[in-house]
Amino acid sequence: MVDRWDERAKGAVHEPSLALHIEDLTVSYDHRPVLWDIDLDIPPGVLAAVVGPNGAGKSTLVKAVLGMVKPAAGHVYVFGRPHLQQLRRIGYVPQRTTVDWDFPTTVLDVVMMGLYGQLGWIRRPGRAERRKAMDALEQVGMAAFCHRQISQLSGGQQQRVFLARALVQDAELYLLDEPMAGVDATTERHIIGLLKELRSRGKTLLVVHHDLQTLPEYFDWLVLLNVRIVAQGPLKQVYTLANLRQTYGSQIGLLHGMPAGTGGPGAESPGSAALETAAPRAGGRR
Ligand SMILES: Nc1ncnc2c1ncn2[C@@H]1O[C@H](COP(=O)(O)OP(=O)(O)OP(=O)(O)O)[C@@H](O)[C@H]1O
Ligand SMILES: [Mg+2]
Repeated sequence: MVDRWDERAKGAVHEPSLALHIEDLTVSYDHRPVLWDIDLDIPPGVLAAVVGPNGAGKSTLVKAVLGMVKPAAGHVYVFGRPHLQQLRRIGYVPQRTTVDWDFPTTVLDVVMMGLYGQLGWIRRPGRAERRKAMDALEQVGMAAFCHRQISQLSGGQQQRVFLARALVQDAELYLLDEPMAGVDATTERHIIGLLKELRSRGKTLLVVHHDLQTLPEYFDWLVLLNVRIVAQGPLKQVYTLANLRQTYGSQIGLLHGMPAGTGGPGAESPGSAALETAAPRAGGRR
């Protein structure tokens, strides 16, 4: 017992200046590592993308931060404290394909679920909470659908409802797993506008993203992942052809329009010429 308390005390504050700090994280499914020895630092106030091919471990990384998968090794700290003590400060929008959309509940109820962390399970949501949830639905342009069953929405509309749920949570660290997947261009612009607004309010956002072309326009921080971390840091430094090639391997070799002679260490930023035709959805399946 004493040991456990000592252990907790030891891990109580660690890198408090970072929104997210991960050390030596390995996650395995059926003894097969899908994340290997991950060290990751995300400073507060950035809008960070996590990018890598299908199966790279992006969703697993997000789930590990949320305590939804048990690591084989490693430590995760959120604002300096062990992540499991900080779950209330984390907002989460899951990858759409992983959600059972058939559960019988309304749009408004789904959004109000985001408030349970603040209310506790005993207090029922009242008028103030309903107002908050409606405000969030308005922000994502879904207020008119508040009484609709969640199963009776299109994929992009469901995505926006989950974003509204994360908004009412008033978290400090947001983890969003492909929030722009399968939405139309207008909705995508709307979502990225919301994410940038959250950043301007000092929030930290870690967003799994699959469109290489929009990275420089949307994000200021980049994490390249393929089971291991390939590179991480300010987007301007990390967004290079060499790094993308290392992340996507032969997939990126198939892309058209890559300038000859790039890809070595220190290769320059891909730029629009490279990526306009560079199959913007490399690693995506959509
Ligand atoms: N519950 C599970 N049991 C066993 N293997 C799993 C499980 N969840 C994921 N995996 C495997 O772990 C690896 C990483 O999966 P993960 O979902 O993290 O990838 P991803 O980078 O999010 O991929 P995508 O771009 O397709 O969403 C994949 O090989 C996947 O098949
Ligand atoms: Mg995924």
